[in-house]
Amino acid sequence: MYHCNLPSLLILSLSVSLVCGALNRTRHEIERDIDALLERMTLEEKLGQLQQLGNVMAMFSNSEPDNPAGDPLAEHLQLIRQGVVGSILYVRGAKRANDIQRAAMESRLQIPVLIGFDVIHGYRTLFPIPLGEAASWDLDAVQRAAGIAAVEARSAGIHWTFAPMMDVTRDPRWGRVMEGAGEDVFLVAEMSKAKIRGFQGTDFSQKDKVMACAKHFVGYGAVEAGRDFNSVDISERQLREVYLPPFQAAVEAGVGSVMMGYHNLNGVPVTGNHWLIRQVLRKEWQFDGLVVSDYESVQDLIGHGMAVNHSEAAMYALNAGTDMEMVSRSYVAHGAKLVEEGKVTVETVNTAVRNVLRTKFRLGLFEQPFQFVDEELAAKTLAKPEHLQAARELAAKSFVLLKNERNILPIDIRNVKELVVIGALADDKANTIDSWGVEGRMEDSVTVLEGIRERLRNTSVTVKFFKACDAVCNSSKNPDEFQQALNAAGTSDFVVAVVGETVGVSGEGASLTNLNLSGDQLKLLQGIAESGTPFVVVLKNGRPLTIEWLADYAPAILVTWHSGTMGGPAVADVLFGDVNPSGKLPMTFPRSVGQVPLYYDQKNIWRPYVAGNIFTEKYKDSSILPLYPFGFGLSYTSFSITNLRLNSTYVMAGDSVTVSVDLTNTGNRDGEEVVQLYLRDVAARITRSVRQLKAFRKVAVKVGERKRVDFTLTERDMGFLDEAWRMTVEPGEFVVFVGNSSDAELSRTFTLFPSLFSSTGVFVAGTTTAWLLSFAVLLSNNLKT
Ligand code: BGC
Repeated sequence: MYHCNLPSLLILSLSVSLVCGALNRTRHEIERDIDALLERMTLEEKLGQLQQLGNVMAMFSNSEPDNPAGDPLAEHLQLIRQGVVGSILYVRGAKRANDIQRAAMESRLQIPVLIGFDVIHGYRTLFPIPLGEAASWDLDAVQRAAGIAAVEARSAGIHWTFAPMMDVTRDPRWGRVMEGAGEDVFLVAEMSKAKIRGFQGTDFSQKDKVMACAKHFVGYGAVEAGRDFNSVDISERQLREVYLPPFQAAVEAGVGSVMMGYHNLNGVPVTGNHWLIRQVLRKEWQFDGLVVSDYESVQDLIGHGMAVNHSEAAMYALNAGTDMEMVSRSYVAHGAKLVEEGKVTVETVNTAVRNVLRTKFRLGLFEQPFQFVDEELAAKTLAKPEHLQAARELAAKSFVLLKNERNILPIDIRNVKELVVIGALADDKANTIDSWGVEGRMEDSVTVLEGIRERLRNTSVTVKFFKACDAVCNSSKNPDEFQQALNAAGTSDFVVAVVGETVGVSGEGASLTNLNLSGDQLKLLQGIAESGTPFVVVLKNGRPLTIEWLADYAPAILVTWHSGTMGGPAVADVLFGDVNPSGKLPMTFPRSVGQVPLYYDQKNIWRPYVAGNIFTEKYKDSSILPLYPFGFGLSYTSFSITNLRLNSTYVMAGDSVTVSVDLTNTGNRDGEEVVQLYLRDVAARITRSVRQLKAFRKVAVKVGERKRVDFTLTERDMGFLDEAWRMTVEPGEFVVFVGNSSDAELSRTFTLFPSLFSSTGVFVAGTTTAWLLSFAVLLSNNLKT
């Protein structure tokens, strides 16, 4: 159904010739139309544009109901007709989306409504959770997944997704680590940009795109003790070095919107944080998209103890620059009075409304309020075979092989007559759909057991399944069932043990103090180990878990995360060797929760850990080292990374450095390796990290093949923020490490000299001696040539 909002267009474009559906309008034209509209709006209508209505019940209700009695949508439609609603969330489906726009077209100014929904890792076709997507280290595949999510979501009437979550996460106790791309600044930025490209394309007004939202601005990943909703207290340096850069990258990549978090940052809750929005986001980064609060986070300023009542909450949030209020209604209730009392200026309101209207223009909503939505289109689009196939491929790419003793994997079915699958999570459709997979359907999902049965259908292998215990695994509930599983393990040829976390302990409001396998799952695995039958542990998890016993005693461990609609077949693809695993950990796996937070990108310290030396950083009761480091993951083949070379070991500031290695597949299977480059700035007046990921490439290499892999390090990669937050490079020594995890040992050193010819705008600090040295190098280079 294609409609053109002609009355609005006539009003708006008296002097601009606008063709219905022509979305390539200039910025100037859009701003002029906004001016015209603002002139005609009452204050009530303006404040209405800043309201996003929503009701969490709608999120979990069927997407296409016939407006059952008590449906909050009835009230919402009424308000939309009054022209006092800017946006709505959780509503989806052609019928509802069109009802909403029809109501908007009945309002005085016919301003279309922006429809938002959390499309976090797929809409109806669920891809792996974002932490799993990140583990693929495959930017193209992640972009493609977001593209599919966008096509599906837009076909159901959604314009705007609240993703990607780009909080850097270093504490696995926090349940929301599953929603992000892990612990590393660079990986989070790259993954987020890939998702933004997939969601938005180059123009999010297109009928197969949605607007993305960078969230939660900013630092939410650092909630104290991993407790969701808790406060965050981090220095401005850490904020600017670790937590802000991914958001800045998202803004540079053209993300359409930014969501403020729930949390209090350094004493000022982010939704009311003037400095964060007006100084950093708007002034320093020149962001001109939409800033939305989190769910009721405007009203939550009261809970934070910042505002005494809703009116003050609205005042703080509006003045800080939070344009749109999600769900709570403080702006519409108190905005007019605040303006009257001079506590909020009309200009402040106008600016916020302008940001909302600009977004609607950019989405093409004025030209096509009914968008491209009809039920038939959705039916043809959702969970179509190519989407499911892409989900299967990305899931397999996301799995991380942590251990594979004596190459027990892939399972060689020639040696297996009976294969036993053990564990409730192996056949639990409900646990294929996590809290952010709202539109996922159990009937679409394929479990690990189903995937394995399907894969072995026309073979001579008999597959048996034993639940042993429920997913949380209390063996005393049904000891016979538990024992039966162990007996079956003993008499079979191979066991696939599927254990881990239920989806319920991951995500929002799901913090943990204990990262061990829950209940008697470890006891189950120990029983299987005692049976002497070879086995693989397939972990389903939303976060790093503490699995030291498995690392010591399980022959093979495959981390499969919560892997979405097609996770089951993907597990079979990897277990039986149709796909060679290539995932790498996006977060460190600690040995125990006591080590947390544990991440590789630590500051240099004066006494780093040295085995056997008492006066170095260590624990008395545990190793200080991680169980599995960031970037780690095995393959069924083996690779060697050799011959690390730099195009120059004397580098003038402003020049880039080319780094090359040879990657060889030395095993007996084709495979993909993620070659990772880490950089260490040996000494600087603001101390640097032991190493930082600066580049990576996922490369397919055939058996016996050798490929040259090149990276370019720019001045920016060598830089850091000085005391005035300017990007600076300091002359001196840098060490480049290249390898296949953050433990990479292969290294080369180069020396950076200051230069008069730095043309990158990066500030170069240097002593007179260093400058003189630089001239000497220049001179000697010139003499050589
Ligand atoms: C979450 C956001 C989410 C919003 C809307 C909040 O509780 O923190 O990440 O986008 O709800 O569902």
